[in-house]
Amino acid sequence: MSDTTPVVEIKNLYAGYLPGINIINGADLVANKGELIGIIGPNGAGKSTLLKSMFGMVKVRDGEINLNGEDITGLKANQLVSRGVGFVPQTNNVFQSLTIEENLQMGLYQRPKHYAERLEFVTGIFAELGKRLKQRAGQLSGGERQMVAMSRALMMDPAVLLLDEPSAGLSPARQDEAFIRVSEINKAGVTTIMVEQNARRCLQICDRGYVLDQGKDAYTGTGRDLLNDPKVIGLYLGTLGT
Ligand SMILES: Nc1ncnc2c1ncn2[C@@H]1O[C@H](COP(=O)(O)OP(=O)(O)OP(=O)(O)O)[C@@H](O)[C@H]1O
Ligand SMILES: [Mg+2]
Repeated sequence: MSDTTPVVEIKNLYAGYLPGINIINGADLVANKGELIGIIGPNGAGKSTLLKSMFGMVKVRDGEINLNGEDITGLKANQLVSRGVGFVPQTNNVFQSLTIEENLQMGLYQRPKHYAERLEFVTGIFAELGKRLKQRAGQLSGGERQMVAMSRALMMDPAVLLLDEPSAGLSPARQDEAFIRVSEINKAGVTTIMVEQNARRCLQICDRGYVLDQGKDAYTGTGRDLLNDPKVIGLYLGTLGT
């Protein structure tokens, strides 16, 4: 379900790590309220960098990032969290020495009094975590850790959830489960932007997709249109995913 109220608008964005070298080169992206947006593209295209620029972790050199109509370009991660940006990085996305419960509390440190309400939302999607709150995250499987990481980000009731490769490193069965969970999160009303290596699977579940190549969106359309576009198939789907 989605309407055409933009939650995130990225306009002509340039960003990079090293002086004089832009990794993001004029990227544009819109995520409307309730949409599930997929970002695919070859290794090194800048997919993670684009998400990191939305989360204040990479220097933005030009262009603009808006959240619900407000300019958030250049804000720091903690300011972005309180404005409603939830981010699950590609790696190291849980506190391994803490319990599941403590990880979830960390996710909500800015609004602790909403804990019970948010825990109910999160365990509505990830019921198995609710039964294992006292277990340390370090003892969990990769798939379970990914669920904890997504849950932690959902604790703040984000306006937009940014997911970097939620299926990475998981067995094929667990990958399927990760995609189902992302769909469920989105169906619960969370506007979501997902970067995925598993391009076909990503386009199958997303409302709209962006193909990022050399830091710029090369193709965009509905998930279905991109899956059926001969140029996208030839250039990006032949070698990516299954
Ligand atoms: N911390 C960093 N400092 C300097 N350059 C970086 C840094 N992180 C990434 N890069 C460079 O930015 C480019 C894009 O990397 P990025 O991780 O955004 O790609 P990606 O599309 O997410 O790739 P993958 O599919 O492998 O995850 C690469 O050339 C990479 O070497
Ligand atoms: Mg990446």
